[in-house]
Amino acid sequence: MIIDNSEENKRLAGQAHEAARLAYAPYSGFKVGAAALTQDNIVYTGCNVENASYGASNCAERTAVFKAVSEGHARIAKIAVVSEHGAFTPPCGICRQILSEFMDSGAQVILESEEGLCAYTIDELLPHHFELNGHV
Ligand code: THU
Repeated sequence: MIIDNSEENKRLAGQAHEAARLAYAPYSGFKVGAAALTQDNIVYTGCNVENASYGASNCAERTAVFKAVSEGHARIAKIAVVSEHGAFTPPCGICRQILSEFMDSGAQVILESEEGLCAYTIDELLPHHFELNGHV
């Protein structure tokens, strides 16, 4: 992890905060936003979308990534993840696996902390992610 308060990271974190305002989180009250920058330089934002059947809920990171992939932009260069509470919000395990599918191992996940913007590589967050390795 490195602290990286670059203008690009600050802009992405800001876009993630905008997205968090749209979160549908009546059950947890925990609003999360994400902003994914694709390798071809487009930003897709997403928020968490909960459901009365809790397990059907979708995290902010996955919303952003699925929007990008479904629009034909499947390689994510960088993603910022924030919560409305200003808390450090590292991606859950399922989201790490999803991110690892669409990010190169050195691509960065930007998180807010007391010290500033933390940049983790997806490989730091999820080493040895699951791959089918040619078994299909
Ligand atoms: N949440 C996210 O959106 N991203 C994460 O990586 C962690 C959790 C959401 C899911 C749920 O709507 C709320 O935060 C509380 O768990």
